[in-house]
Amino acid sequence: MRNEMMYRPVLKDEIIELLRHRQPEMSGKVGKVQEEAKETGVPVIPNETATFLRFFLKQIKAKNVLEIGTAIGFSASLMIEAMGKDSHVTTIDRFDVMIRRAKNTFEQLEIEDQVTLLEGDAKDLLGTLDEPYDFIFMDSAKSKYIEFLPECLRLVKTGGVIMIDDVFQAGTVMHDIKDIPKSQRTIYRKLNQLYDTVLGNEDLSVTILPLGDGVLMISKEVDNVHLKSDKGM
Ligand SMILES: C[S@@+](CC[C@H](N)C(=O)[O-])C[C@H]1O[C@@H](n2cnc3c(N)ncnc32)[C@H](O)[C@@H]1O
Repeated sequence: MRNEMMYRPVLKDEIIELLRHRQPEMSGKVGKVQEEAKETGVPVIPNETATFLRFFLKQIKAKNVLEIGTAIGFSASLMIEAMGKDSHVTTIDRFDVMIRRAKNTFEQLEIEDQVTLLEGDAKDLLGTLDEPYDFIFMDSAKSKYIEFLPECLRLVKTGGVIMIDDVFQAGTVMHDIKDIPKSQRTIYRKLNQLYDTVLGNEDLSVTILPLGDGVLMISKEVDNVHLKSDKGM
């Protein structure tokens, strides 16, 4: 379950030290969940990404969030804390062990009323949703991001933001495919397809941030986004 890429940082050690360790870790009950994830080796967003996420959600005044990839509910709890009492997170996970632990987290933090945990594969569940979300956080299997993107663009409101975690593969996404081990070529291809699809698309505003193993931020600028190879959504 350990996210190896977190231990292959793309930045200088001292910058990692500043971003990951000098920025304070989360405090209170959310801090306890962060601690539990670390102690039990659950791959949750690193501290610099958590710090950014908390900051950003407050700035955009998000109230209604969709997350793909709950794990033990660390990022979902953090997002609820950042957005306040009148907010809601719908979060999806397919792994029973994580689902059990996430339910426990939400109970402990007394935020069950603010969280809807959908159990199953995002591939099957995304099509059943139709709320406009202010913000969508994709933090699941990297090879599926490109597959989930059209549904996420349908579900995010115009002017809303999709944040995608772990898009660098420690920088190997920029290597020649010949140098990529065969076992990692699907992820390599799918992440590059994701970049090709969103970068330069005039219906989107996009930026890449070197937080953790890379974060891609996509804002939906128009109601009907046209992606290469589809007829719009
Ligand atoms: C990196 S962890 C999520 C960490 C969490 N966002 C946090 O920072 O606290 C990824 C999770 O995504 C789930 N996942 C991966 N692919 C999925 C899919 N297709 N549908 C639903 N869940 C998925 C895994 O079971 C795992 O619990």
